[in-house]
Amino acid sequence: MAEEKKPRKKVTLGKLRAMKRKNEPITWLTCYDFPMAQIMDASGIDMMLVGDSGAMTVLGHPTTLPQTLDAQLMLTKAVLRGTKYAFVVGDMSYMTYEMSHEKAIENAGKFIAMGCDGIKLEGGARIADTIEAMVKAGLPVMGHIGLTPQSAPALGGYRVQGKTAAAAKALVDDAIALKEAGVWGMLVECVPPETMSLIHEAVPDVICMSLGAGPDADGQLVIVHDMIGYFAAFRPKFVRQYVDLTEILDGAFKQYIEDVKSKDFPQPEHCYEVSKEELDKLGIDVGD
Ligand code: KIV
Repeated sequence: MAEEKKPRKKVTLGKLRAMKRKNEPITWLTCYDFPMAQIMDASGIDMMLVGDSGAMTVLGHPTTLPQTLDAQLMLTKAVLRGTKYAFVVGDMSYMTYEMSHEKAIENAGKFIAMGCDGIKLEGGARIADTIEAMVKAGLPVMGHIGLTPQSAPALGGYRVQGKTAAAAKALVDDAIALKEAGVWGMLVECVPPETMSLIHEAVPDVICMSLGAGPDADGQLVIVHDMIGYFAAFRPKFVRQYVDLTEILDGAFKQYIEDVKSKDFPQPEHCYEVSKEELDKLGIDVGD
């Protein structure tokens, strides 16, 4: 007898924790708009991140630093409109949580009030007190350590982190500080797998997600534009590309141009119909 499929349920923090306990990898992709959210959600993805990387991938900025809170909120709203099941994480953009605890709480609250299931901000021990205040205010906060793009200028560019013993130990300290501040999860970006393992071991109750940090994590995140070949600027080493959307779209656009120029498009099936009776009134003879 065929096994009955259970109806799909909204992914909650409880569900993510259960997946961690069962050692079932959590799938996570960035998402920035409504149609993509609908497709991704229907595909069965567990989590979506409306990353401030949208500043680069959809708005064309060279870094994430120019992303405003308003732009982040606009993208997040669009993704939430297209999502029924996935756990959606909002991302706090540059200088929206550094000024004061009050400002951080107020800004993060906007994402949660809108419908996000979690909120992410970049930084380790240096922002632990901010996170503690946010968690005390009831916000479901996730940390982000390793390569933190908002601090790329201070880190000397977009570089792999945690490559020396001292750097790896500092990241473990960051992870412990975030855990003590009350995060439910943390993203570890662009560190060697051995460093990721040390972090994962150090905070066993925290959901640890990897972005270019190897397999020893509770799940994996990738920037969607990288895995679908929709961002020409660069593709990081840690990305597996599943489709080359740039090539597919280039082919479609060229074909459209050719069809219009050659008058092959539009054809009758692309046109609206008017009854013969109405055409007669206009004196247009279309024959029998
Ligand atoms: O904005 C984002 O997409 C991020 C990633 C780099 C993970 O924070």
